[in-house]
Amino acid sequence: MPKDPLHTKLCDMLGIEFPIVAFTHCKDVVAAVVNAGAFAVLGEAMHKPDEIAADIKWIRDKVDGKPFGIDLVLPASAPPAGALKELEKEIPESHRQFANEIKKKHNVPEPKGEQALHQWGGLNQEMARAQLDVVLEERVPVFTSGLGNPAFILEAAHSRGIKVFGLIGKTRQAAREIEDGVDAIIAQGTDAAGHTGPVGTFSIVPEVAAIAGDTPIIAAGGVTTGQHLAAALCLGASGVWTGTLWLACRESDSDMIIKEKLIAATSDDTVYSRSVSGMPMRTLKCPWTTEWAAPDAPKTLSAPYQMLLSSDYIQAANDHRREDLMFEAAGQGVSFVTSMKPAKQIVIDLVEEALDTFDRLTSESPVATG
Ligand SMILES: Cc1cc2nc3c(=O)[nH]c(=O)nc-3n(C[C@H](O)[C@H](O)[C@H](O)COP(=O)(O)O)c2cc1C
Repeated sequence: MPKDPLHTKLCDMLGIEFPIVAFTHCKDVVAAVVNAGAFAVLGEAMHKPDEIAADIKWIRDKVDGKPFGIDLVLPASAPPAGALKELEKEIPESHRQFANEIKKKHNVPEPKGEQALHQWGGLNQEMARAQLDVVLEERVPVFTSGLGNPAFILEAAHSRGIKVFGLIGKTRQAAREIEDGVDAIIAQGTDAAGHTGPVGTFSIVPEVAAIAGDTPIIAAGGVTTGQHLAAALCLGASGVWTGTLWLACRESDSDMIIKEKLIAATSDDTVYSRSVSGMPMRTLKCPWTTEWAAPDAPKTLSAPYQMLLSSDYIQAANDHRREDLMFEAAGQGVSFVTSMKPAKQIVIDLVEEALDTFDRLTSESPVATG
């Protein structure tokens, strides 16, 4: 019998049917994807340790022993706890003024409540450490590090049976993490949503696969169809890591305004900008990103200062559900997010499209020459 092209070493490592990983902030999406035979990772960088513990329990109750992952960020630039007020004082007046001009020009209201951003592990070393402790105590099957090298956690994780995946945007980061002994590398191209590097998915994946030896490579960035899945496997990946694909799915708790924006968007509606966090990030375009891209705009600040500057705009846009201001991280594959399908259907469609792609490639008669 011919080998199933979708049965990869990532499937064997994780005990999953399909080599598809969903990154999501929504635990309902995690449960639906895991129960559909794929793998899912819950992004918890914004959550308090007790919330993470509760989410892990919730997922465990829903997935009948099947594995899943938790993603945190471990950025080198995270300041110590309580430093935010001090850091805010260091923001140059010119930048504060420019942010205020944007708010005035676009009639941005005041945020309503507590700043969710201030719970971000990337803005608080102690929070990041406490979040990590929960992952270790709970022996979550897979831990992934969205920002920063997870090498320091490898021993503690492995001794508890936890696999550790590193997400990278440059081949030299991958080389370091492979040498350190991570269990898989997520090679993320610039097409991706969220914080991402400058190298395209089509280049980074085979480059990292070439140096990875037995370490599985998971391709990320712009994967929204089964053709992308098939192509990623052809490039040397053992699976795909996807984010944008799940934001508008039926189970996703994204705001309906964001779901509709994503469904309407094409690749050109995304922008690669430092204006949100100070690190390059791909999001839907919005007034904030557009104003910072203007020729006379000040140069964006580094992390975490730029994030402190953008947090009022983000929080206000979401608190007041201002369609004209709201945005979300989104990858260039967003063109193929065209409806609010159930997560299980998305998995089935990816698998069928990928198998059809392989069938087409192997069954087409060769083009006659001469
Ligand atoms: C809304 C959103 C938020 C994200 N936040 C994180 C995060 O906190 N940590 C992380 O590792 N990756 C984060 N990512 C990136 C994903 O892990 C993934 O690498 C990316 O979405 C892949 O590209 P794609 O969106 O084109 O599929 C986020 C992605 C999205 C869509």
